[in-house]
Amino acid sequence: MLEQEFGHEQLKVFHDQETGVTGAIGIHSTALGPAMGGLRLFAYPGLDEAIVDVLRLSRAMSFKSAAAGLDLGGGKAVLIDDGGWNGTRRERMQVVARAIEELGGRYVTAEDVGTTPLDMDAIGEVTRHVAGASVSHGGSGDPSPFTARTVFASIEGAVGVRLGRSSPAGLRVGVQGVGNVGSALVRLLCAAGAEVSVTDADPARSQVLVEELGVTALPLDRFAYGAFDVFAPCALGGAVGPAEAAGLTATIVAGAANNPLSDRKVARQLADRDVLYVPDFIANCGGIIHVGAEILALAEREVEDLLVAAGERSERILLRARETGALPLEVAEEYALARIDAAVGADIS
Ligand code: NAI
Repeated sequence: MLEQEFGHEQLKVFHDQETGVTGAIGIHSTALGPAMGGLRLFAYPGLDEAIVDVLRLSRAMSFKSAAAGLDLGGGKAVLIDDGGWNGTRRERMQVVARAIEELGGRYVTAEDVGTTPLDMDAIGEVTRHVAGASVSHGGSGDPSPFTARTVFASIEGAVGVRLGRSSPAGLRVGVQGVGNVGSALVRLLCAAGAEVSVTDADPARSQVLVEELGVTALPLDRFAYGAFDVFAPCALGGAVGPAEAAGLTATIVAGAANNPLSDRKVARQLADRDVLYVPDFIANCGGIIHVGAEILALAEREVEDLLVAAGERSERILLRARETGALPLEVAEEYALARIDAAVGADIS
């Protein structure tokens, strides 16, 4: 069974005959705390594909929370989009909420691809094991500015390690995708004096930043190959495949997008070209810190400390990788695993 192979604690598959809702919840680890991870609504071809995804994503959440310094475990929930969610959405979300409630707090959900703060509001009517509800429902609101902060900090750390510079001032940074996180990142980069170029599948989004900040908008095609010092993928996953890794001008890759490398081998390819890649879950952890703070009821000061620590940790990971010849990805995973293992050890003793 895949869940045993990946070392998951629990897999819960649920189906509600009345509404037609089918979904799965994966709990990878609760060693550090409740398993946290978003609720994804996606048109999976079938249950098998949904289960593979929930197992993969929940495991990644264990690494992400642990590496962010949070006392949270890793979980995820997925729902099959059968085309029947319109009109009955609130009712259906409450079915999901009951499945979450049955886990007694071992899993805490939040917004993800295909779900919204309004969905979290509906879930919150049934269970308290939910974060990221809309502000009007007592939720903590949009995590994007926090994500942008840690991405920016990871760029600062990377330019120190790779280029020996104390800040991105004067460096050319290409930001691919200027949605919620990308646009906030562009503002931070411009304030720091970087020379920013942007691209977006929706040109209107780039245009707003051109007018507001005087950045340069470039076409989508071949953007990754632009004459940049830093390439910041902030759109979808898979932005850097073997071709981009071979042709990038930038010597640093650090952005918000999850899984920006098409596969793990690309991390080695980048390192072989002396391109410094900041692992996604290290760079973009501000979002999980923001959402995690809601679950752990952290004070503003504690959140601030976690955000600052995340930036410092990112730099330490890059330095360690440089010293040992390991990939930053390997060092980051090792750090996360050590935290999880220490918590498991503490549980046993
Ligand atoms: P968003 O949906 O607000 O922005 C994404 C932007 O990318 C949009 O403006 C879209 O038009 C553009 N885009 C789509 N395909 C593109 C392409 N091929 N080339 C260029 N632009 C393209 O999403 P958001 O929230 O800004 O997230 C960005 C990335 O960061 C996603 O991969 C997300 O999973 C990841 N992330 C976001 C977090 C958050 O706090 N919002 C937290 C952690 C990761």
